[in-house]
Amino acid sequence: MSLFSFFWLIYQIFIARAPNLDSIRRKWLLATKIGQLYALRADFIGVDRANILTQLYEKNFDTSKINTPYSFEENFRQKFESIDDVAFSEASIGKVYGARWKWSDVVIKVIKSDFREKFINDVNRLKKYFRFMIFFYPKLARVADPIGTLEDLERMTLSELDLRNEIRWISTLRKTLDKHANFINQTVTHTLVFPECITELSSEKILVSERLTGRSFRELLDSGTLLYPVLIDFFFQHVFCMLLDGYFHEDIHSGNIFFQDNKIYLLDNGSIGFASEKLRHGLTSFFDDLTHDRIEDAATSLILMSENTEQNQHNFTQYKIDFCKLYEGFSQKTLRELSLTQQMMASIKMAVHAGYTFERGMYPIIKSFMYLDGMARACRPDTKLMEDVRPLIEQFATYKKTIA
Ligand SMILES: Nc1ncnc2c1ncn2[C@@H]1O[C@H](COP(=O)(O)OP(=O)(O)O)[C@@H](O)[C@H]1O
Ligand SMILES: [Mg+2]
Repeated sequence: MSLFSFFWLIYQIFIARAPNLDSIRRKWLLATKIGQLYALRADFIGVDRANILTQLYEKNFDTSKINTPYSFEENFRQKFESIDDVAFSEASIGKVYGARWKWSDVVIKVIKSDFREKFINDVNRLKKYFRFMIFFYPKLARVADPIGTLEDLERMTLSELDLRNEIRWISTLRKTLDKHANFINQTVTHTLVFPECITELSSEKILVSERLTGRSFRELLDSGTLLYPVLIDFFFQHVFCMLLDGYFHEDIHSGNIFFQDNKIYLLDNGSIGFASEKLRHGLTSFFDDLTHDRIEDAATSLILMSENTEQNQHNFTQYKIDFCKLYEGFSQKTLRELSLTQQMMASIKMAVHAGYTFERGMYPIIKSFMYLDGMARACRPDTKLMEDVRPLIEQFATYKKTIA
């Protein structure tokens, strides 16, 4: 990445009135990923700009022009009855082919080319540029945390580039779901499961798994046929994993969730987030308070998650007043009237402006709520989500006490 591209990106993300999303997408993978991460940081770049960048999550690459065939090694190919010539899905990093193995339908996901080295080089060069800028403009570190943001990105992307991690993370999430299967089965109708991976055929750059026949939440939302209770069941199990053991799928956009035979399948498990004990505790009480319309308590619960609650106590009173104002009439608003994403970003921004700091682990969590909010709004805009999830939060809180 040249210095020119770097400044161009800085301009698009931090300065341009309307960031040019298409050219960010076309630029390089890293540019899109950086744009996506800043979409979550309304506290740095403002709610309006963050909302524009959020679209980087929604639209995929135009892949029609870059579908070049992948050459599988002959001894790998021979293990299959057949492998399709043309990939049925192609994204920034991977391609997915249909195939037949032992007379059943499978999919083969491959990493397109050797991204790792170029990606690491790009990230390192970018870090150097940022350090240089921070040297002359130290405030940048505080107002945009570019090095931290890049480190998050590096961790997530490197995790996605080794497909064995998908198998690993599926087993991590499955462990939580299996351990609490009795409670989950009593609480939801549609359980959260994962496609079976065929470990013996998989490696760092190739993942073979059962082929799902259902449809993605994206397709169901587009055709207006996603059932709201299915979405709520997904919501519950995703948040259950996050709040109980801390692990959660970091990229739950609607294209990565399938519905088939009354079950919800989670795909693309290459990157997993972790909520620390402090975040889990704070989030549980934050939701409990919000869903019961205890706004003052919710203000306190949000701050439970900050890193400097004690040191920043002198700002608490004013912060609380502002928070209560922001949440006036909150519980009575439908998703159409109020986007939870914006509300959440505005709350974090308010806390940050009041001097509170949060660990970076907070932002992937916000990203997941952003997706959930977007799906719920597309599915049932006239609902009051807080009312809908209140019983689930109550059941969760009771269950957590019984197993403590
Ligand atoms: N096991 C599967 N069965 C059916 N379709 C799949 C399967 N795995 C992936 N796909 C399709 O391929 C797309 C891309 O796969 P995914 O694992 O999400 O990789 P990425 O988004 O990183 O390219 C998915 O959105 C889905 O449409
Ligand atoms: Mg995907």
